[in-house]
This record gives sequence, C-alpha cells and structure tokens, in this order.
Amino acid sequence: MKILLINGSPKGKMSNSLRLANAFIDGLSAETKEVTVEELALSALKIASCKGCFSCWTKTPGECCIKDDMQMIIEKQIEADMIVWSFPLYYFNVPGLLKNMIDRQLPMSLPFMSKGDNGYGSGGHDARYDMSGTKHVLISTCGFYSSEGNYDSVKQMFDHFLGRGNYETIFCGQGELFRIKELSARTDEYLSYVRDAGCEYARGGISEGTRDRLGTLLYPREVFEEMADASWGISRESGEKEDSDLIFTRQMAALYNKGAYDGKDRVLQMHYTDLDKTYQILLGKDGSKVYTDKSLTPTTCIETPFDVWKSISRNEINGAEALGKHMYTVTGDFSLMINWDKFFGSGDPGKTSQKKNADGEELKKPLMTTMLIAWITFWFAIPMGGKTGALITLAVCAFIPIIMRKHKIVIWDRLSIAAVSVLSLVASFNENSCLISCLGYLVFGLMWLFSCVFREPLCSTYVKYNYGGDAAYKNPLFMKTNYILAACWGVLYVMTTIWTWFLRSSGLELWVQIVNYIVPALMGIFTVWFEKWYPAYLASGKGAK
Ligand SMILES: Cc1cc2nc3c(=O)[nH]c(=O)nc-3n(C[C@H](O)[C@H](O)[C@H](O)COP(=O)(O)O)c2cc1C
Repeated sequence: MKILLINGSPKGKMSNSLRLANAFIDGLSAETKEVTVEELALSALKIASCKGCFSCWTKTPGECCIKDDMQMIIEKQIEADMIVWSFPLYYFNVPGLLKNMIDRQLPMSLPFMSKGDNGYGSGGHDARYDMSGTKHVLISTCGFYSSEGNYDSVKQMFDHFLGRGNYETIFCGQGELFRIKELSARTDEYLSYVRDAGCEYARGGISEGTRDRLGTLLYPREVFEEMADASWGISRESGEKEDSDLIFTRQMAALYNKGAYDGKDRVLQMHYTDLDKTYQILLGKDGSKVYTDKSLTPTTCIETPFDVWKSISRNEINGAEALGKHMYTVTGDFSLMINWDKFFGSGDPGKTSQKKNADGEELKKPLMTTMLIAWITFWFAIPMGGKTGALITLAVCAFIPIIMRKHKIVIWDRLSIAAVSVLSLVASFNENSCLISCLGYLVFGLMWLFSCVFREPLCSTYVKYNYGGDAAYKNPLFMKTNYILAACWGVLYVMTTIWTWFLRSSGLELWVQIVNYIVPALMGIFTVWFEKWYPAYLASGKGAK
C-alpha cells in the first residue's frame, strides 16, 4: 500500500499534528503488508497561488501553467492508495499553505458542471482521474482545549472536496501539549490511542472505544488553560517576560488536580538550590496559585537543583529513585509526595490507580489477609488438640483460594498455606501442641527473614500497589522501609518461638496468651508509624548524614 503523507504544517518536522499522523501510520503499517510511506512537507516545497486563469481546463487540459512542485504532488496523489492529510487548524480552517495546495487541485477536475446531485444542493465538477479507490485520513491538532466545534469549516470544505463520508478524521485539541516533554506521560498515552486507531482502520474501521478515547480531553479545560497561559512566559498583570523557572513552576502548579483536595490547604515550597529561587504553590479547594514573595507558611518544602526537578518532570529520571539518592530533599508533610500522582497526575483521579489489565480484565491485587488467615487459624486451632485443630486448619486452608478469590494469590500466600497444612498434618499425629505452635512461629518468622534476601521483601508484595506497582522497586525509600519492616517481623517471630517455648515449658500459659497478643499489636502500631516516618526521614536528607 502506497501512503502519501501530506504535511500541511508550516512547522515541518516540528508539527504536533505530524506526531499524530506518524502514530496513525505506524499502527496502520503494523497491520498492513508492504506499506510504503512518502511524506511531502508542503513548507519545503514550491507551491505558488493559483492564478485563476483556467488554462488547466482550456489551453493545456489537466496541466497547470505554473511550473513548480505541484505537478509532482499531483502525480503522487494519483499514485497513492491512501492520502493522510496532516495539518494544524488555523483560524478554524486549514493553514494557507495547505489551502494553496488544495486550490491548485483544479487540473484534477474536469471543467464541465457535474450532472449528478452531490447531496449539498451546490454544483460541482467531476474528477478528471478515477481516484474512487483512494482512501483519505485527516489528522489535525488545534490550540483550543477541545476540537469540538472548531473543525466545522474544515469538515465542510473536505465534504465538498473529497465527498461526505469519503474520509476518516482524527482531530485533537490542546495540540501544543504534544511538544512539552514534561507532559509526555499523558501525550504518549494519547498517541498510543492514535496508533490503535491506525491498527483498527487497517482492520476495517476505528472502534467506538478508541473513538471515545480519542475524544477525551488531554487535560480538563481549566488545567489546560492555566498551563497554556503560563506557557507564554508573560506575566498577565505586568505584561513582562517571566524567568523560565517561574514559567515551569506555574505550569507545574497548573497541573494540580483540585479534585484531590481533602479539606486541607497545602503550601508546596520549591527552592531551586542552584538558582537560589523560592516559589510557593498554594494547593487549595479552588485550584492552585503561585506566590513569589515567600509570604506563606510552607507545609512541604522541596530543595532541588532546577535541572534535577525538570528532568524528573520529563521522566528522564525517576523521582522516587532521585529522592533515594538524595539528589533533592523533602521536609515537612510527606503525604504530598506519597500522593503526588493524585495531586499532579492526569487530572483524572480515577486514572491514577489502574483497575483493569491490557485485556480489560479486572486487575486482582494480593491482600496480606490471605496469608494471615492460614496462620491465625493455625495458632488458634492447634492448641484445641491434635486432630480437631488440624482438621479445622486444613479445612480453612482448602477454602482460602475460594474465600479470597477476588484477590491475587502470591508466593507468600502459597508458602503459608503449604507450611500450615504440613504442620497441621504433623499435629494430627503429634499431641505436643506447644512444639507444633512454636514450629509455626519459627517457620512464620523465617519466612519473613528469608524474604529479605529477595528483590521483594514480604510486605512489599502486598503494599507495592499503593506505590505504583512494580515501579516501587525503583524507589529506594520504599524498598529500605520494607526490608527493615520484613526483618523486624522476622526477628519478632523467631523470638516469639523462643519465649513461647520457655513460658509454656514453665507452665506460664496465661503469659504466653498475653505476650503473644500484645507484642504483635505493638509491632503493628510500630509498622504503621514507621512506614510513614522512615521515608520522610530519608527524604529530608537526614538519613544520608
Ligand atoms: C495563525 C494561527 C492560527 C491558529 N488558529 C487556531 C484556531 O482557529 N483554533 C485553534 O484551536 N487553534 C488555532 N491555532 C493553534 C494551532 O492549531 C495549534 O498550535 C496546532 O497544534 C499547531 O499544529 P502543528 O504543530 O501541527 O502546526 C492557530 C495557530 C496559528 C499559528
């Protein structure tokens, strides 16, 4: 298939629309055999304005009297199986460059008035060449927040030019965002939908689902317009040019998602250490505002070289990893950092937590309760006496996969169910319940300790989903916290084995009950505190000293 890509943007290769067109062709090529693509950047070609002399109809039929690049373009149009028209929206229409090229299509028509009814109540001309098999796709970005209502003139012109229903369209608002690296997570997501559209078009047509995704705004109107206003780098009040770090901070503030407001005003203070500049961003119920006079009391302070923060925003370095390496520090309320995606994500709070996998199936997450059900049943039931206790434990273990079917079963759940089942079987032959319970504590403790030699300490398997899933493994703060907690729980249960054994041997059963309830409860309280305090401690830079 021969694809002719007509790039009608005066910006040539720097065109936003061209990124979308390339993504579409990329998707289409993946589904089509033997694709050749030829791009014609109109900005690099010589295309004079039509003189209106009609000599292409009279003196030299089918041939224009102006000798420039138009002859070559027309030949390529005739040869193409598909023409992708890529262009920006200028004053609610195609840019002059492309309009010029369209005016020069006159040699492609016959001079005589068409007898047929074109369905518009207007007159028309029949085509000089049979191009009924040529497919057309229009791909365009515009600068306003939405494409809605902006493309009426474009559609009307192409309806007359190519025929209504004879072309496919992808029109996207907020087009200038495609060149902002800091927003690439969102714009790349959109480009992936354009690619999907290309694949589906090759297979017969763009699906409703993909059309819906393409029709969704890149950012909510308010967020986008704040960012767009900030991007010009001109103060609205004074009309003076602003420094690039202030422009950047304003754009970052514009990304604030006020839907994440939880009743508490926050003040994020950014201190760019290399520039010695400080800005404060008030994050409130009605949106965000940047202050340059340090007049607010900060709740979270970030000390960072400007370039480091820029690279993080552009996804060139991982923010959590950089924090772990002390490339920047955070003091004050650390919850803002933990929930960064919620406050400064795509603007759609629902998007920050992925709920479905690529096939659209519900994404199951593991729950530590799955593992604990087996152990808690074991420690309760075994002291009841050999066979009964063992039977209860085995029955519960058998039902865990059914009870917890809404959750993912992970290695630690499987190991726990297996260990508890084996220990219960041993208990059904051995009446020494003290020995069996102690063995349970030992295995449980060793499992925690054993997990510390792996990439994934036991607790992290369950909580990583609150920290971006597998991406949490790149977060040294998260990993250090989880290794320490896993080791603490491991040591606790190895020690529990020892004191349980001695207390029971000394007939102090009541003490066993008290200690074995109280100590894990205290450890649970410690865990809840430590998992908040320790990352904040490391982030403040104190951990590095
Ligand atoms: C002269 C001019 C006129 C424009 N007119 C409109 C317009 O009418 N509506 C709109 O939404 N955007 C308008 N824009 C914004 C562009 O459509 C937008 O920046 C687009 O993403 C540029 O695409 P490109 O990078 O492919 O050239 C205009 C831009 C310029 C320079």
